[in-house]
Order: sequence, then structure tokens, then C-alpha cells
Amino acid sequence: MSIEAPTVDAARAATDEDRSLPGWIYLDPDFLEVEKRRIFASSWQVVCHLNDIPRAGDYHTLQFLAHSLIVIRNADGGVRAFHNVCRHRAARLLDGPSGHCAGRIVCPYHAWTYDSEGRLTGVPHRHEFEGLRMQDHGLAPVETEIFLGFVFLRLEPGLPSVAEMFAPYARELAAYRFEELVPLGRVTLRSRQVNWKNVTDNYSDGLHINVAHPGLTRLFGQSYDIEAKHWVDRMSGVLRDIPSSQPSERLYQALLPPVSHLSPDRQRLWLYFKLWPNIAFDIYPDQIDFMQMIPVSPTETLIREIAYVHPDSRREMRVARYLNWRINRQVSLEDKALIERVQAGMASGAYRSGPLGRNEVSLRSFSRRMRSLIPESRLDQAPAPGWSARALAQRPSQAQHP
Ligand code: FES
Ligand SMILES: [Fe+2]
Repeated sequence: MSIEAPTVDAARAATDEDRSLPGWIYLDPDFLEVEKRRIFASSWQVVCHLNDIPRAGDYHTLQFLAHSLIVIRNADGGVRAFHNVCRHRAARLLDGPSGHCAGRIVCPYHAWTYDSEGRLTGVPHRHEFEGLRMQDHGLAPVETEIFLGFVFLRLEPGLPSVAEMFAPYARELAAYRFEELVPLGRVTLRSRQVNWKNVTDNYSDGLHINVAHPGLTRLFGQSYDIEAKHWVDRMSGVLRDIPSSQPSERLYQALLPPVSHLSPDRQRLWLYFKLWPNIAFDIYPDQIDFMQMIPVSPTETLIREIAYVHPDSRREMRVARYLNWRINRQVSLEDKALIERVQAGMASGAYRSGPLGRNEVSLRSFSRRMRSLIPESRLDQAPAPGWSARALAQRPSQAQHP
């Protein structure tokens, strides 16, 4: 029996495990085109919570890549999602991030009318459209999944359900009674002049907390924890009893009241989940928000965010929520500066890739999946411009997820 020497590819695969993704994929337009097909087309995207759209006709929209999408509550209490595109001449139907349309959706261009099931119900000058079969021109449906009260959608099949992806944390999430959340404020969009992966890498990066977030360090000490399951990263920190030297943090520590539905070990826990590829949930005892990193260009990302709470009129809870917002606004500014720094370094061309520490488990799992879905991400340098068309022509369908 002969033992074959490892091939170049096998040797590379072994070292790939210990190194980060290369810098060029954080700014290459072709890479984003391939990501749209192989990563985002089948990804689950969160749009809103059921309690954002409580009444029939309430809707939320999502602008995702080239797609405008609607999630609407219909008359029987169910939820439907559609492309926000009229079947007549393609006009966008509903405007703004959210709203209410009483009973029907009327196109602002020529007044074609749809019901909340997406059926075409009215066509002005109907007699001029000979042979028009109304039933063939309903709004294009989009698949939805309700996960613990949150409405997710996806453009194409391919991945497991959201519930299956979150399964390792199902018990933990159940403790937070997501279904009972109500929105606190509105959807906000924050622009970041960086690649979307830079935002998500930073979200799941545990090593920078004690270096670059003095506030979180005062609050958590060294308790920050990180783990990566197949589809979900989990990060957490426990608020210390030692009062912070910073007034907002100190007051938050002192005021945060007990939350009756949470067990003792969760009363002072800040918990973060990241779902492949671009959805994050920040879970605090006082509020919960989601963040969604939406690519606008290879070097611009929108962070779409909205916070939710359990109804609680205690004054100290209201103040704690405000202080939480102040503390995390500062964290967010610190992260903004960090990711801009990284983006600049990647854009300089001086960076190929870097080593990954053993505990950088989320970056490892993200890199592994990215290399499997888009093998070009194993290259040190970008192929010649235009490579995405060839790559997508060769392997147009959904790549296998590891
Ligand atoms: S484009 Fe909508 S009615 Fe004509
Ligand atoms: Fe951070």
C-alpha cells in the first residue's frame, strides 16, 4: 500500500483553516455578484415582528439588494410576502419602510388593484386587456417563515428553516419570549462605508472587546464568551457588580430592574446571536433588537435595525432602556471606527490574509463556509475583473453548504 503525498490543494486546505479570508474579497465587485447568487439568494432575511403588523393591511417593506419586498398582514390574520412590483408595468406598489393599506393595494401608476393575498382584483379599462386572466397576474409570492414571532423571508430555497438553524439555541431563546415582544420605535438604517462581511466579522469577533470597547470591559470584565454552532454564533457577557466609573454604565448597573420571565442567570446577561450570513439579535434583559447587514456595494453596507421590548411601564425599566441605548451607541461608534480601519487596510492592497487564533471560532466557521461556497475566496488575489460571470456560468446553482 502506498501512501500518497498530499496534493497542493489538500495542503492549502489545511492551512486555510488557520488563516482569515483574503482582503480582496472585501472590495471586489465580482465577489459581491457571486455572493448575491450563492449566499444571499437563499438566505433568510428578517423583515419585522408580527407585532409590527398587528392589523389586516399593515405592512413592512424590505429593500434587499435589487429587491423590494412586502410583508403584509391579511384579513384572516396570516402573513404574506410579495415582490413589491406591479404585474402591469413593474411599478413599485408600496412606499416607505412600513404602513397600512386598507383592504387592498392600489398601484400608483395605472391603479391595478390587489388584495392582501396578492390576488389581482381590479384592472381599470379591463375591456382593453383582451384575454387577460386575472388569476395569472397576482403579485409574485415570496416564501416566509415565522420564527418566534419574527417574520423571515427568502427568495429561493436551499437552506434549512430558521428554526432548524437556531435549533441548538431553541431552549435558550424560548426563555426570552420573543413572541410577546412589541416594537420600540421604528426601523433605522445606518450606512457604513465598508464591506458587509467587515460588519459581520466584527459582530462575531470576541478578541477585540477588551481592547477596543472600554465600556463593555467595565461592564463585563473578562466574562465575554463566544461560541460557533453550525449556522449561529453566540456571544455573551455578564454584567459585573463592581460599579463602572462611567455614569451611564453605573446607573444602568444600578437601575436595571428584575425581569420576571427571566431566570436568575439571565437577569444580568447580555447575549448576542448571529445567524448565517447577515442577521444579528442583541438580547438584553431590558430590550431585544435585530440588526441586518445589507450590502449596497462592495464597500457600503446598510445596517437595518429595530428594537423590541416586553411591555413594562416601570420607570426604572424605561431609564435602563435609555441607558442601554446610550451605552451601545458608544459601542457602535467604536465598532464603526474599527471596521473603517480594517476596510482601509484591505483596500490598500498591502494585506493578503492573516492568521486566525484558536478561539476565533466564528471567523473560522464563517471562512470555512465562504471557501466552500465561493472557492475563489481561497485565492490571495482577485482574478481579472469580470470573473464573476464565468464563475456563475460554470456553477449557476446553489453551492452546497458545508
Ligand atoms: S404599473 Fe401598476 S398599474 Fe400599471
Ligand atoms: Fe465591537
